[in-house]
Amino acid sequence: MREDYLEEYYSFLRFPSVSTDDKFAGNVRECADWLSKKLGGIGLESKVVPTAGHPVVWARNQHKPGRRHVLIYGHYDVQPPDPLELWDSPPFEPVLKNGYVFARGSTDNKGQILSHILGLQETIDKDGDLPVNVDLVIEGEEEVGSQNLPKFLKENRDALKCDVVVVSDTGMITKGTPTISYGLRGVTALELKVTGPKIDLHSGIYGGAVANPLAAMAKLLATLHDKDGHIAIEGFYDDVLPLEKWEREMWAKLPVDADGLVLQESGSPALFGEKGFSTFERIWARPTAEINGFGGGYQGQGTKTVLPSYAFAKLTFRLVPNQKGESVVDLAQKHLKKNLPPGVTLEMKPGHSGPWYLTDPNSGFGKAAQRALKKAFGHDVALIREGGSIPIVSDFRTILGAETMLCGLALPDCRAHSPNENFPLENFEGGIRMNKALLQELAA
Ligand code: BES
Ligand code: MN
Repeated sequence: MREDYLEEYYSFLRFPSVSTDDKFAGNVRECADWLSKKLGGIGLESKVVPTAGHPVVWARNQHKPGRRHVLIYGHYDVQPPDPLELWDSPPFEPVLKNGYVFARGSTDNKGQILSHILGLQETIDKDGDLPVNVDLVIEGEEEVGSQNLPKFLKENRDALKCDVVVVSDTGMITKGTPTISYGLRGVTALELKVTGPKIDLHSGIYGGAVANPLAAMAKLLATLHDKDGHIAIEGFYDDVLPLEKWEREMWAKLPVDADGLVLQESGSPALFGEKGFSTFERIWARPTAEINGFGGGYQGQGTKTVLPSYAFAKLTFRLVPNQKGESVVDLAQKHLKKNLPPGVTLEMKPGHSGPWYLTDPNSGFGKAAQRALKKAFGHDVALIREGGSIPIVSDFRTILGAETMLCGLALPDCRAHSPNENFPLENFEGGIRMNKALLQELAA
């Protein structure tokens, strides 16, 4: 691994570019400036484009007629590092241990996007040019739902209209197994507030005579699933596309023990999920209703005899083909209204929403990507879907008319979004090779 590559990687990782929290807005901006300068330094034309939120970094080589046009997308924003006390080293002070770099964003997505950039750099250094017309769009709001990116794509549609999009922000099933993800789940959010008394009350003076909002919320949330792990919202599965036989067979043959992996990485005492589906099927092709946060009342040390005024809960639904975010939120709201226990009121606020994605891994570009990955990693390629979401990918199809090749480098134990996120230099180097092979294959 070249020293200067490592230094650049570390510089990139030192920016706490946390997009969800306003107090980091300056750091996000500085990170964008650094990135744009890096892209300018390798010979691309690069600029930082302001949006209503965090800026987009946009770079391109000199386009020549008659060549394929490839858009490389990634994000320089990261998730919050919390809980800080669970990190073995500070999240924005990268360290190398046993071939792995530890820092927030090391995998998701700074390591992955930087390896693309270094691949471009090596090709330009060697050949003086790239084999294709390239645009890089690296945004600062992926981790908060990419709300402002569709507008950027629409405003620059003519310049960005491309043949294919390449994204490295997904997973590899094991280290050394090149992986193409031909599907992503969508996600849509809904916040709930259940209110009872107008203020927190003495639970001795009032308890028993008015409803407790936390108890009501707990009952309400418990109606979301049945005992077999199915979502109990009426009509929830109406639009769900059943898994195809070839997919189930292909996934069953993947060289990885999904159950063991999930047990080990999650640390959960047992697997739990929808009856009738394997672990990969549950994660990659079935929808979920998750409770992300739930609170109210007294949260401090010791006890407080209080009957809280309200309870809140934050829900997200992972969506699969052909569910629509809006209909799912609609059905969920109807369900929650209908099942609200007596004595309280309910307010609901839909949040960000991003659609699912499904493409053909054996299309022309799919085959080209498979050849490139095989060349870069020297192994047969695994074809999977993902449980996670990258909201903008469906807009590449609708706004730019291009399909996306999801060729990610994240390992199952990378700890994205968790403490001690890490990325092996092996994958960083693999990413550089992958970028070079991809551009060659996509050029043909
Ligand atoms: N890199 C992930 C997406 C991902 C996760 C792909 C797991 C494959 C497997 C991305 O940065 C991410 O975390 N996206 C968010 C989007 C959300 C905030 C709208 C997600 O999936 O939660
Ligand atoms: Mn992420």
